[in-house]
Amino acid sequence: MVKVAVLGAAGGIGQPLSLLLKTNPSVTGLGLYDIVNTPGVAADLSHIATPAKVEGYLQPNGGLAKALTGAEVVIIPAGVPRKPGMTRDDLFKINAGIVRGLAEGVADTCPKAFVLVISNPVNSTVPIVAEVLKAKGHYDPKRLFGVTTLDVVRASTFVAELLKDPSAASSVVVPVVGGHSGVTIVPLLSQSSHPLPSGVDLDALVHRIQFGGDEVVKAKDGAGSATLSMAYAGYEFACKVIKAINGEKGIVAPSYVSLAADSAGGEALANELGTSLEFFSARVELDAQGVAKIHTLGNINESEKKLVAAAIPELKTNITTGHDFIQKPS
Ligand code: NAD
Ligand code: LMR
Repeated sequence: MVKVAVLGAAGGIGQPLSLLLKTNPSVTGLGLYDIVNTPGVAADLSHIATPAKVEGYLQPNGGLAKALTGAEVVIIPAGVPRKPGMTRDDLFKINAGIVRGLAEGVADTCPKAFVLVISNPVNSTVPIVAEVLKAKGHYDPKRLFGVTTLDVVRASTFVAELLKDPSAASSVVVPVVGGHSGVTIVPLLSQSSHPLPSGVDLDALVHRIQFGGDEVVKAKDGAGSATLSMAYAGYEFACKVIKAINGEKGIVAPSYVSLAADSAGGEALANELGTSLEFFSARVELDAQGVAKIHTLGNINESEKKLVAAAIPELKTNITTGHDFIQKPS
């Protein structure tokens, strides 16, 4: 039985994500926080006949602390989304400050919570949360996650499309590693649970997975980025975290985590990558304490090795950007 706090709960992701969480019988408390509209969202959700007690708070009168009190899981989809022509890094200027403020709230109110960061650019916002928690003496790398599940959901969907078998969509599993933007998104198609049909244009498929977010941004034409598929993906990841907290064993989920979260696994992965990186998205085994084991890449082919190599410099830059925002504020 778990209390979940959603920060940015009135937004395009926050509302459907909160709805999905309200349907989960293991969620007994739902603390919703936003700078607008949360009382309305909470009142609306509270009429759904499921166990979660829903409370919605705004900024004044300690609303953030109230939403976070007692939370074991904190999900952060607060921040601005992209418009056509923007990269995720263009969001950093605004979202970095938002995420910093929310991370300070987590450190002050529920420092042991599992923190799931959705706000972009994830490659940099996760290091921001880490630095804030470190500064306040509450950093546990086992409990901080960048949510990269949407990349995995997209990879599964696009592969199932190529298989011309819509019923396979929910059973196709394609590991996606690296980070969550452009070339840092590295699908390991050679490890797909379902072999791809011959003749598939692999470069085009990799590109579609890496830039799937752009498809939605373009189609929404200025009205934001993926919200519904993100709520689905965020809920999928949150459910795994909740199951792990409740003692279920053997749960593996892809996530952008600190390689220090499992020093042995992190070291083995760094050896494979041929460099040290503070954060990387990998398949991660979860238990009630958080990250139990970071999986290595396993067997990957030559073109996947090139994709990983291309991701590393950009990841390093993104991580440093987040790190410096707290360590070296200008
Ligand atoms: P949105 O604008 O619809 O909603 C964002 C919400 O955040 C708004 O309700 C806003 O009021 C709230 N907010 C702003 N400042 C806040 C603060 N200081 N405290 C609390 N709430 C605050 O945007 P969205 O479409 O829901 O996207 C949110 C973020 O998620 C964006 O940064 C977007 O790029 C990112 N995103 C990430 C992924 C991923 O895969 N990780 C996928 C899709 C979107
Ligand atoms: C996505 O992958 O859909 C999100 O990161 C939102 C975006 O900006 O593309």
